[in-house]
Amino acid sequence: MKVVRVSREEPERERLGEAGAALRRGELVAFPTETVYGLGANALDADAIAKIYAAKGRPANNPLIVHVVDEAQARGLAARWPEAAEQLAAAFWPGPLTLVVERAEVVPETVSAGMGTVGLRVPAHPVARMLLEVAGVPVAAPSANLYTQTSPTRAEHVVKSLGARVGWVVDGGATDVGVESTVVSLVGEVPVLLRPGMVSLEALREVVGEVQLCEEMPEDEAPRMSPGLARKHYAPGVPLKVMAGEALEDALAERRAAGGEARVGCVVYSALRCEGAVAVVMPRDPQGYAAGLYEALHRLDRLGLEAIWVEAPPEQEGWEAVQDRLGRAIS
Ligand code: TXA
Ligand code: MG
Repeated sequence: MKVVRVSREEPERERLGEAGAALRRGELVAFPTETVYGLGANALDADAIAKIYAAKGRPANNPLIVHVVDEAQARGLAARWPEAAEQLAAAFWPGPLTLVVERAEVVPETVSAGMGTVGLRVPAHPVARMLLEVAGVPVAAPSANLYTQTSPTRAEHVVKSLGARVGWVVDGGATDVGVESTVVSLVGEVPVLLRPGMVSLEALREVVGEVQLCEEMPEDEAPRMSPGLARKHYAPGVPLKVMAGEALEDALAERRAAGGEARVGCVVYSALRCEGAVAVVMPRDPQGYAAGLYEALHRLDRLGLEAIWVEAPPEQEGWEAVQDRLGRAIS
């Protein structure tokens, strides 16, 4: 595996030449986006797409997001570009928002897991943008981790998770949003939020009015719309529990009283005391928390702990993506 380090702010174009050529040739290249690192392949090459599924151990019914440089390129991959797509692209692209629309013929069926739709996103990260330009092809990229593992927010996480399964890793430092993009389906009459992210439901509603939640869909329809949203996902290798601050303090006190070795890791955001445990203190705002969440889980995961206990974050607006990912990480 080859690691290519580039500057986040001003990526050196010449260093991305080989990685871009590798993408065009149908090889796998991991790269940073503003959300998490992606495992990229030429989205128009069915053999390259098959390599993504194989490398991740990802089930074939879980569709991939295609990354493009701008809205014009996105339109070229869609059979229809509804008004809501135009409005949302204008408001949030480049950025952490994926739009699911009807797929154009040029997109291999395997990209969309046989669904007839395609998820499209224009990333904001300067390295991702330059790599897309240099490659000159749309790039399908799921998060660059083995299936069900915690998504990578640093190149080191990719190397640890995928190792020799990926030919190239472009290292652009830590990502800044920290959790995966918001996914919205524009296939039906009303937009449906398939995966919460840091582009919030409120922000979406301000632009397109009504947005339905996936949970509100008829039960037989929701999984068909987003087969990838399996419950267990984003999970570290150590059992993880989410509990209210007080319960967490009580549980720690119980451990201390029992005189056990401190083999618990805690993720907290309030002034809670984590005596006798390895503590990671998170920022109190949802943006800061999201940006550091996977990094915290990766760090604790390396310590050979018995458990990770997370203080339940606030049930407030803006925390939906964090709540969602923690909900999927519990064991
Ligand atoms: O932030 C992100 O979105 C990152 C970076 C690399 O862009 N990518 C990412 O990809 O999180 P992945 O494969 O881990 O998650 C993609 C999810 C799928 O599991 C599925 O739920 C949804 O997006 N998705 C993609 N294409 C879809 C489609 N055609 N229809 C419905 N859902 C789709
Ligand atoms: Mg993923």
